Amino acid sequence: AVLARQRLREAKRWARAGAVLRDLEARCAAPAERLRQVADAMAAEMRSGLASDDPEGGDGSVVLKMLVTYVDSLPSGDEKGLFYALDLGGTNFRVLRVQLGGKEQRIIKQESKGVSIPRHLMSGGANELFDFIAAALAKFVASEGEDYHLPEGVQRQLGFTFSFPVKQTSIASGTLIKWTKGFTIDEMVGMDVVAELNKAIKRQGLDMKVTALVNDTVGTLAAAKYADNDAIAAVILGTGTNAAYIDHAHTIPKWHGPLPKSGDMVINMEWGNFRSSHLPLTEFDHALDAESLNPGEQIYEKLISGMYMGEIVRRFLLKMAQEASLFADGVPEKLEIPYILSTLHMLMMHQDTTPDLQTAGIKLKEVLGIQNTCYKTRKVVVDLCEVVARRGARLAAAGVYGILKKLGRDTVSPDEQRTVIAVDGGVYKYYTFFAQCMESTLRDLLGEEVASSVVIKQAEDGSGTGAALLAASYSQCLQDD
Ligand code: GLC
Repeated sequence: AVLARQRLREAKRWARAGAVLRDLEARCAAPAERLRQVADAMAAEMRSGLASDDPEGGDGSVVLKMLVTYVDSLPSGDEKGLFYALDLGGTNFRVLRVQLGGKEQRIIKQESKGVSIPRHLMSGGANELFDFIAAALAKFVASEGEDYHLPEGVQRQLGFTFSFPVKQTSIASGTLIKWTKGFTIDEMVGMDVVAELNKAIKRQGLDMKVTALVNDTVGTLAAAKYADNDAIAAVILGTGTNAAYIDHAHTIPKWHGPLPKSGDMVINMEWGNFRSSHLPLTEFDHALDAESLNPGEQIYEKLISGMYMGEIVRRFLLKMAQEASLFADGVPEKLEIPYILSTLHMLMMHQDTTPDLQTAGIKLKEVLGIQNTCYKTRKVVVDLCEVVARRGARLAAAGVYGILKKLGRDTVSPDEQRTVIAVDGGVYKYYTFFAQCMESTLRDLLGEEVASSVVIKQAEDGSGTGAALLAASYSQCLQDD
């Protein structure tokens, strides 16, 4: 009789867990109809962002900042010489140098080094952060080998990838509008980030100057275009998410400058801040947002990007533990710690290929201190990861579809024009399920015929190389060998 009662209790527990899972799944659903509404809203917000002169959105009304980047011509391939780049945008930054050889030789040689940013520098003072990165840059420059050539008396040029919303006033200047992705150095908001970096470079005694300030999406687009002339947009799916694309300058109402020769202007959308009543938000997303460093902002980013997906899974798991006793030993203490479960943990559990989900079990133990899970429990965890990843990937596809709509590339083109979209970032690179789901969703939205001319290309570290390429094309005196 005791055994029968125990069995009945277990059966009830699993029924409850199944019900909660199905409920979450339903609330996160993003069927094609909804995605089309999201894409339409994205295209509409793009138009209003391009029309609004106030990218700071003082009244909070500008959803997409649609920042003018001053990049009106992308690298042509003729670039020659030695150029550096510094890529700052997430938990790491990278320094890089590249020797460009012009049309024939292209990239002759390239080297880079990644450095992780100590957490305290993400919320300290501006000088501390800039001194830290300038010191790493100086060290890297000092290691320049003999394969790199800089003509006598020429100053080293630097492309600065700074992956936060910046209001640019020229190709090599711009002020920080706000922080995203966990950075909170308040005194830097409103500062010219190039001036600050140049000063820090001087303090290091380094003879070098920033010649191009670019967002990571813009760098990625530049590198993609260098490799493939049909590239029209770049998307980052990493710690944060964002997109940049090439638009016709004369269709940008807020652009009052001279019409560029190319007729083009690259726009940094800052799409992470997108929001719409069509987004499938749950109470967990609202709570995550309310408790975040930037409540009310970056709502789309909080559904899609690497900084947040693992945290959404943690919140779902906590609910399952509390309401459906998912874990036999009650609510695991560690599960209550915000951000303890990263998207990297999430994808390792989700992409577990062992037949009995051993990897998921190990992660649950290592990260959350949950001992001895049974297969059924691990399967629920994996299913939850899938719910969150699928929602993110489908919404990301809707965003890309929105850009194609805005550009009129969502229909069959008479001249069979190819459309290439470059994508980079850890979520896209390492989360195979996410990448595949995003691509198949975009195909479905476009329909087979249109989809056959749209190519999603993984960009290998475009943001750094792209910044160096832009530094090259915008440096006043092109270095001649
Ligand atoms: C955040 C930043 C944006 C960047 C993106 C990807 O959304 O605001 O500038 O491009 O993350 O790194």
